[in-house]
Amino acid sequence: IMSKNKNNKPVWSTRIKKNSSSLFAKVGSSINIDKRLYKQDIYASSVHVEMLFKKKIISLQVKNKIIWGLKKIFNEINKKKFTFNNQSEDIHMSIEKRLFDLIGEDAGFIHTARSRNDQVIVDFKLWMIDASNDIVKEIDITIKSIIKIAEKNIYTIMPSFTHLKNAQPISFAHYILAYVEMLSRDKKRFLYNKESLLENPLGVAAIAGTSFDIDREFTTKKLKFNKPTSNSVDTVSDRDFVLDFLYSISVCSNHISRFAEEFILWNSDAFDLIKLKDRVVTGSSIMPQKKNPDTLEYLRGKTGHTYGNLFSMLTILKGLPLSYFKDLQDDKELAFKSFDQIKISLQIMREVLNNFIVNKKKMIQLAETGYTTATDLADYIVREHKYPFRKAYLVTSKIVNLAEQKGKKLNDLTVSEIKSIDKNLNESALKLFNLENSVKSKKSYGGTSFENIKKMIKKYKKHA
Ligand code: ARG
Repeated sequence: IMSKNKNNKPVWSTRIKKNSSSLFAKVGSSINIDKRLYKQDIYASSVHVEMLFKKKIISLQVKNKIIWGLKKIFNEINKKKFTFNNQSEDIHMSIEKRLFDLIGEDAGFIHTARSRNDQVIVDFKLWMIDASNDIVKEIDITIKSIIKIAEKNIYTIMPSFTHLKNAQPISFAHYILAYVEMLSRDKKRFLYNKESLLENPLGVAAIAGTSFDIDREFTTKKLKFNKPTSNSVDTVSDRDFVLDFLYSISVCSNHISRFAEEFILWNSDAFDLIKLKDRVVTGSSIMPQKKNPDTLEYLRGKTGHTYGNLFSMLTILKGLPLSYFKDLQDDKELAFKSFDQIKISLQIMREVLNNFIVNKKKMIQLAETGYTTATDLADYIVREHKYPFRKAYLVTSKIVNLAEQKGKKLNDLTVSEIKSIDKNLNESALKLFNLENSVKSKKSYGGTSFENIKKMIKKYKKHA
């Protein structure tokens, strides 16, 4: 019966006598997507048959034939000499079918004590472990690019913004290092996900487990998982690990989108705090003068896709009874798309990081507008004159009002002007309006002082 597999017929053709409608065959086939799992599928199958042999479920001869066949198939696919056929539905059936072509009926032993329901998640988890490591690598390189920029800009002063209104002077290095923190958290998310990724689904078979005396510890060890999954029903139903992956990618792309948006704003003619180099801008078809930040807009836009993939998966799982349903087949397409997207997005983010100029002059100018050192004066009054902070805040507000009335910056005010607000103030108060002093003074742990930044850069270089 199994040899029917040779005739390009599905394994179930004895039971299901009519071919599927061509329409269903077309939508039901996932081969164009899951062929990406061929390495994992062949690797896991080899370990599975090793285990079957070890447990005397199959003979040495059969095992060797299957391993030989799998190796041959691996090479064929690697060398692009393998024809993927829509009729074989998915990567698992394609490989099984080819194994029949190569070694005949003994190929049928490969599916002993296994179902595609466990097979597919073994492959998928193995893929996702590698994919997560890949993303972590990309994040690491991106962190290095950011640290380089920070090192060159420790003394570059810019305004920080809250509500997009000028807040307090900070170092540009401090600002950009915020993204190192964000990306380090992203990294951690992928690393935490490993705990569930490292549970081995192989051996739960279709849903109930198997009557064969298999050794799940053996396959767990060989496939470098940590332990076997504990409940066969949960195992074939569970796609939480896909959600974790898609969520982790979504958060990382969220960070990239915030970076992209800020750089778009800062590169605008209105802000003019940075300038993108020619490598990362595009022109306009009608306006000859234009240099548009399309790369950043691409990053911001694609974030929508990674969220979309997460939401698609959440929606697929909502209310789905246990255990396996065809609905789940789309999990791979979503994960592959998000993975490809985050990888290219991190690479593009680095291209931008390596191709922009900091407009230091404009940063200082903007930091000088909007009375950004007012808080420094209020803090000083608390320290020097022992005023409660609220009283110091009030005095400083009046000084800001005065500066505004006179059309002056805070550091253009005179001693007599500040004395007119509070007679206790003297000329040393004027020093507080200096931007560098302001930045230097923020020595509290995590603050923007130059000394803090230098220490943080050292720390990130060791471990971010
Ligand atoms: N290609 C299927 C998937 O990706 C494999 C599992 C199929 N199992 C089944 N009973 N149809 O989900």
